[in-house]
Amino acid sequence: MAQYVLSLDQGTTSSRAMLFDHEGKIAGIAQHEFEQKYPNTGWVEHDPIDILTSQLTAAVEVLARAHVRPRDVASIGIANQRETTIVWDRESGKPVYNAIVWQDRRTAEFCSQLRNDGNEEMIRNKTGLLIDPYFSGTKITWILDNVDGARALAEQGKLAFGTVDCWLIWNLTSGKCHITDRTNASRTLLYNIVEDKWDEDLLRLLRIPASMMPEVVWSSQKVGRVTTTLGLGDVEIAGIAGDQQSALFGQMCVNPGDAKNTYGTGCFLLQNIGDTFTLSKERMITTLACTTNQKLQYALEGSVFIGGAVVQWLRDKMQFFEAAPDVEKIAKSVDSSNNVILVPAFTGLGAPHWDPYAGGMIIGLQRSTEIGHIARAALESIAFQVTDVLRAMDSDTDSKMTKLRADGGAAANDMLMQFQADLLGVPVERPAILETTAQGAAYLAGLATGFWDSVEEIGKTRPEGQIFTPKVDRALAEKKYAKWQDAVQRSKGWNKE
Ligand code: G3P
Repeated sequence: MAQYVLSLDQGTTSSRAMLFDHEGKIAGIAQHEFEQKYPNTGWVEHDPIDILTSQLTAAVEVLARAHVRPRDVASIGIANQRETTIVWDRESGKPVYNAIVWQDRRTAEFCSQLRNDGNEEMIRNKTGLLIDPYFSGTKITWILDNVDGARALAEQGKLAFGTVDCWLIWNLTSGKCHITDRTNASRTLLYNIVEDKWDEDLLRLLRIPASMMPEVVWSSQKVGRVTTTLGLGDVEIAGIAGDQQSALFGQMCVNPGDAKNTYGTGCFLLQNIGDTFTLSKERMITTLACTTNQKLQYALEGSVFIGGAVVQWLRDKMQFFEAAPDVEKIAKSVDSSNNVILVPAFTGLGAPHWDPYAGGMIIGLQRSTEIGHIARAALESIAFQVTDVLRAMDSDTDSKMTKLRADGGAAANDMLMQFQADLLGVPVERPAILETTAQGAAYLAGLATGFWDSVEEIGKTRPEGQIFTPKVDRALAEKKYAKWQDAVQRSKGWNKE
């Protein structure tokens, strides 16, 4: 009897592999960072081969380190950075261009044009999304229009499109499976989440041949066995989800009203809204959530593009410290941000502002300002953005969230968690295992193969989390938040020609 589920968490800056045992505990972990490419202003790319090799290396490494044989693994679950777009040649398996990353803004003008042509409402009613370069659709069009010969090959049915899950599975199964799951499909701007199918009108509008699209499967089902001979055996792939939906499931937010925020590269607040397609009035998006009963379930999402990445920026570009966790020590070297506000609109602003032209900004500098104030302002900016989203979502659902479940790497930062609770005025709960993204994919794969019998059984294995309760005076918190709102307004449109 297999004792583990292997989870592959292919994120924006690193590929991780984790083994989970039957108690839902982590039995092994391996991680590989890979190169981020910025070939032009506003452009962000990955080499698809880097994505693949870093992920395979992490997978093989975690098995070796934990002394686990492939036959001890019940199944594989995959959680992935969403929207990132890869187009490859079906015959050679070679990508025709680098992966265009979700953060990439190169199609901002095309998006404006689509909006000016009056397409927004139609697209929203079909996909639950807004027109923004964030989503895959306009990135595919860009590749077909800009890579030599790509459009002709696509029209002959020779090119395949996939988000990162799809690319990994294609390679793990030696080109046998060209599939994606519903949560990933729902991020492409091309999937009709009401009628549950690729939408012909949208494919036509974006001039994308339907033959490029993968088959769409459920998040928790057996889809194919690994055929690479790289030490992964022939384990069944049985779980697929976009990383944020995977974290929603990993936090067991399976009932309407349940919500979580993941503090990763970006911040993503998702709330389960049940089986009725509902559109936001507050510029949130509607997206598909993971299910195990093969019925559609929806979530409202507020996507913040720069979350923990602001700490990376302080480390790599500002060189304020050597390791990301040092930010807490430096931020604690001062009592407050001393009125400094940092708006990390490095790749424009996501929800609820949706401004691809917004520019990053630090305001309130004085002669007395030191690194500590800026580090503190950077951490606070993460919580301010989550507050923007949570308030919008509260007004959308006409109910007040009474607790926020947090997870992701940056949630390990106590100062951030406390500031978040203070700002929101509601408790923030941090689970014992922060790796809920990988955990969600493991649960999905384990449920599909009988490793776990039910969501209820999994629920019983989850230990209590840690609660951060609000401590500061409300009026003070509101005053601080008002400063943030003022600064955000000033950052809008900055990078427009
Ligand atoms: O939508 C983008 C999101 O999936 C990226 O997640 O964890 O790589 O920041 P992450």
